[in-house]
Parts: sequence; structure tokens; C-alpha cells
Amino acid sequence: MDFVTLALLFVIVIILALIIRGSRRSLPPPPDKYELGDVTLEALRFYNGYDWSKPPLVAIRGKVYDVSNKYDVYGPGKPKSAYTGREIARALALESINEKDFTADLTGLTAEQLERLEQSVQEFERLHDHVGQVVPLRKFTAEELARHDGTDNSLPLYLSIKGTVYDITKGKQFYGPDGVYPFAGKEVARAFALFSTELEDCNDNLEGLSYTELENLRDWIGKFNSKYPIVGRLVLS
Ligand code: HEM
Repeated sequence: MDFVTLALLFVIVIILALIIRGSRRSLPPPPDKYELGDVTLEALRFYNGYDWSKPPLVAIRGKVYDVSNKYDVYGPGKPKSAYTGREIARALALESINEKDFTADLTGLTAEQLERLEQSVQEFERLHDHVGQVVPLRKFTAEELARHDGTDNSLPLYLSIKGTVYDITKGKQFYGPDGVYPFAGKEVARAFALFSTELEDCNDNLEGLSYTELENLRDWIGKFNSKYPIVGRLVLS
């Protein structure tokens, strides 16, 4: 090999090394792991891939996995889209996408079906991040809800819309002791429908409201379902 060929080869190797280094540097950083924490089965339903602010999630025996890295399988309209936002232990064991099998109840399953579930769980452990766990829906009396109005700093802020209790702690600037809205610790369906901040409208009585006012309420419910976790139901004491 003469000197010119050697020099040419050397230059090519250097250029290739620079290109490879450059392309490595320009790789985007891996996305942060999503952290959900505690979630009720009711709130999990909103993680079904249709709300772009939330990743699609599934629960298996209460353990919640982020399946957004398999969009081609779990994304909206994709083959297993029905699984997202649901507890699917029984469905996996039965290889079912039937609504009635979206449960952690394994009663009556055969050894073979249970084995299939175990294999699926291993696959989920391998492929997907564990991001939270299912917790039971809490039941609140009006008195219990009222304790979450921000006066006790150690408690999260909650409010109820038509009996569905939301954790609104991340909206502290609106609802906390220094916030402008007096809704924390209260049932607010009527106030939201009427765009009222009067305490006398903080109840769930929808009598006499117009279509537009009920539509306002539906808009608020949509906003809250998208923004705040559902933590429980308000029950009459
Ligand atoms: C002059 C009248 C009002 C103005 C200019 C106003 C303005 C605003 C603004 C700028 C926000 C922040 C929005 C965001 O960052 O997402 C907000 C939030 C909010 N407003 Fe009002 N508002 C008014 C009256 C009312 C009334 C009468 C109600 C009664 C239902 C109300 C209920 C709320 C609630 C509940 C939030 C917080 C929503 C959340 O948690 O994200 N507002 N308002």
C-alpha cells in the first residue's frame, strides 16, 4: 500500500469516527419514568390512551404498568387498546378482551390459565415500567371531606363534584388558604354549574338548572377528570 492510499484510509477513518461521535451526542435523552403512585380503579380508567396528557396504563393484580412504549399494541384503536386504563389479570389469564374479564378476580381459573397469567406478568415486568398501584376507592362523609379544606396543612386538598372526590392538592394556588376559590373540602356541583363562588351554592342540588348550566358542569367534570386524581366517593352519612 503506497503512502497516498494509507493517508486516504486514515482520513476516512477519522471522518467516520467523528460522524459516529456526533450522532451519539445528538441522541435525545431517554424520557423520564412516569410516576403515578396510588390510583383507584375509577381514576385508572382515564389512562386509556385517549387523553394525550396521560400515558396508557394497565393494572395486573393491582400493580400498574406504563405501556406507552408499545403504542402499536395499546394505542387508541390498536389491538389491545381495550386493556388500557383497566385491571386485566383475569383477561390475560383467559386471553380475553371481554369487559367482564377486566378484573383481578381469578376465581375458578384452571392451572393452565393461571400459568398463562404468570407468563404475561413476567413479560410485563420485562417490558414495562411499574408506575403505581391500585388502591380502593375511599368513602367520605361530608364531615371527612370538610377536613380537607386546607386549614390542616398536613392533609391533602379535596373537593367533590356530584359525589366524586378529587385530590386538588396540585391546584393549591386556587383552592388553598391563600387561594381565591372557597371550594376545597366541599361538594361543588351546583356552584360549578352556576359559575358561582357563593358558599350557599356549594352542594350537589342540580334542580332548576338550565341546559347551558348543566353543560358548564360537564365541562368542569371533564377538566377535573383530566387534571386531578379521583380518590373517593362522597356518601351520605
Ligand atoms: C372575573 C371572573 C373570573 C376570572 C377572570 C377567572 C379566571 C381564572 C383563571 C385565569 C384561572 C386559571 C386557569 C388555569 O390556569 O388553568 C381560573 C381558575 C379557576 N376558576 Fe376562575 N375566574 C373567574 C371566575 C370564576 C368563577 C365565578 C368560578 C366559579 C365556579 C371560577 C372557578 C374557577 C376554578 C375552579 C378554577 C381552577 C381550575 C383548576 O383547578 O384548574 N372562576 N379562573
